[in-house]
Amino acid sequence: MHNTYIATLFPWNTPSRKIALANRLLRALGMRSRLVEPLDSWHDMTNQEQRINIYHLVSQVLRSGVPGAFVELGCFVGETAAMIQKINHDEGQPPRPLHLYDSFAVPFYLNRPVRDVLEENFRTRGLPLPVIHAGTFDETLPDALPDTIAFAHIDCGFGGDPESHAAMVRQCLGHVYPRLSTGAALVLMDYAIPERWPRAVDVNPGVRRAADAFFADRPEAVRLLYAGEGSQGVVFKASPRPGMSPGRDASQEARQAEG
Ligand SMILES: C[S@@+](CC[C@H](N)C(=O)[O-])C[C@H]1O[C@@H](n2cnc3c(N)ncnc32)[C@H](O)[C@@H]1O
Repeated sequence: MHNTYIATLFPWNTPSRKIALANRLLRALGMRSRLVEPLDSWHDMTNQEQRINIYHLVSQVLRSGVPGAFVELGCFVGETAAMIQKINHDEGQPPRPLHLYDSFAVPFYLNRPVRDVLEENFRTRGLPLPVIHAGTFDETLPDALPDTIAFAHIDCGFGGDPESHAAMVRQCLGHVYPRLSTGAALVLMDYAIPERWPRAVDVNPGVRRAADAFFADRPEAVRLLYAGEGSQGVVFKASPRPGMSPGRDASQEARQAEG
């Protein structure tokens, strides 16, 4: 039942005429149920299972008081970012600053400036505008990242060569990881292990390539999340290792991110 509630928490899709008509009929019959448009992962960017995962992870870091801001690397028109912001402001906890990073250079299906649509999406959904850092990750990272991060979403795939995508995910991880608070959640969109869950479409194999290599010698492991026919992974930041100061750790990570 809880997940049914979450599935209808982001009611932003315009209903088709058929669904609007069916809902008028349901209302006229005095029924409380409503139909919603099925998600289309090309436009909505996530499926229902991925949304449910994001809800649980964002609300978990808020409710358990993990310190830090929220960041999304690869926001496009803000479909996921708007969900993160809604949870951020609806959970009854002090909201965190939300920082978004994108070049806004990939239009996907749009014929309007991507950033305009992003800002419009926040306005029409009644959500506070996030802090937007426009530019390639080479230009914005790491200087524009907050020092402390409680929740991070890395979602920078748009097809193309898995090796160059892996290098980009590696760059994002190198800068984000040292800033994560203990207990922070780092969500990796499109993290897939086809041999363990063949139903999922492995749209961006570079994500797993980069993440598995990055975490091979770190205390955390990437956990594969159930995401239906989509893919997603999460990492929870472990406590600092004894004898290693966070400062030394961060500068080492930054050097590795550049390499
Ligand atoms: C799949 S989309 C993100 C979808 C978004 N999270 C949502 O829910 O709407 C991937 C985004 O990553 C961005 N991106 C890819 N490479 C980038 C880079 N090197 N620097 C900045 N942004 C980049 C693209 O511009 C694109 O908007």
